[in-house]
Amino acid sequence: MSKKVESVNYGLEKIFEGAQDFLPLLGTDYVEFYVGNAKQSAHYYKTAYGFQSCAYKGLETGSKDTVSYVLKQDKIRIVLTSALNSESPINKHVTKHGDGVKVVALWVDDARKSFEETTKRGAKAFLEPTVEKDEHGEIVKAGIYTYGETVHLFIERKNYNGPFLPGFQKWESNYNPEPSGLKYIDHMVGNVDWGRMDVMVKWYEEVMGFVNFLSFDDKQIHTEYSALMSKVMSNGNGRIKFPINEPAKAAKKSQIEEYLDFYEGEGVQHIAMATDDIISTISYLKEKGVEFLPPPPQAYYDEIPERLGSHMDMMSEDIKELQKLSILVDADEEGYLLQIFTKPIQDRPTFFFEIIQRMGAKGFGAGNFKALFESIEREQALRGTL
Ligand code: FE2
Repeated sequence: MSKKVESVNYGLEKIFEGAQDFLPLLGTDYVEFYVGNAKQSAHYYKTAYGFQSCAYKGLETGSKDTVSYVLKQDKIRIVLTSALNSESPINKHVTKHGDGVKVVALWVDDARKSFEETTKRGAKAFLEPTVEKDEHGEIVKAGIYTYGETVHLFIERKNYNGPFLPGFQKWESNYNPEPSGLKYIDHMVGNVDWGRMDVMVKWYEEVMGFVNFLSFDDKQIHTEYSALMSKVMSNGNGRIKFPINEPAKAAKKSQIEEYLDFYEGEGVQHIAMATDDIISTISYLKEKGVEFLPPPPQAYYDEIPERLGSHMDMMSEDIKELQKLSILVDADEEGYLLQIFTKPIQDRPTFFFEIIQRMGAKGFGAGNFKALFESIEREQALRGTL
């Protein structure tokens, strides 16, 4: 990969016009993880990432089979769900995949119409439109399968003013760590099997009305050992971005293959959460023990001025400080971005987080892919899975 940043004019506004408006999406409503021990996971998200207690459902609220903790930070809402008995499908999901994302919920104005429009275009139904009520009003939800066992739920909440969804009560806690500065979900990435990327790209185009606005082939994304391909899908207003990765043939096993082996199927690889001040956010996370991929070699930081070109003028961050925190830098025609990746957050080498700060750049850090993947490969080598 050349060191110099290639100028790309994404022309996003124009591209997004190509998206279909049969499925208007207001934003991400929440992301739900099925986990082995939701109580302990919730503590991790609060302590390590500064999430706030939001809502709860469990035995105390009359939920006999499942327990869920809802955590919030600015616009990001994460739900952690565990089973309370061995028969629960949540347990089967965790047994097969380990802890992982089950639901990417999308906020809509009309859940029935969202279900109807997507299923008539070929989506497989997960949940027929369902009305749920409590003293705070009512919501409508419906769901479809995407890749693997992952689902999209459509959440219509215009007639609801409770803390989360019917059945949940406000979660009051005496333990309330400070927020770390995480603001919103920037993008969510799926890993799919060999030959399945283009199938899912077509699915998002036809079933959800998304557009493919950026593609990377294995010639662009490779290291000495491994390769992958990626296509980025977006909805019409650009609020929802789903890159889709597929492994590519190379000398050794790619991180995507490692994921597919350990997740035992396709699923969400990472979620990128945005901050306005990555130095402060990452300092917080490191202080709390969040583990990140090790930094690229010195040469990577020496080359930043060349990589950023004219954007160096607007860069206020000190390169030495970025290096100290292992933060990566990339640029495109419109600006630069700062990003960093955690190590997998559960024992299986599957799901991880990205923290991103956009300073005008609209890309995904393509200039960092090589440095990033070499870093992941050093971790894979330690796990014996390269
Ligand atoms: Fe990403």
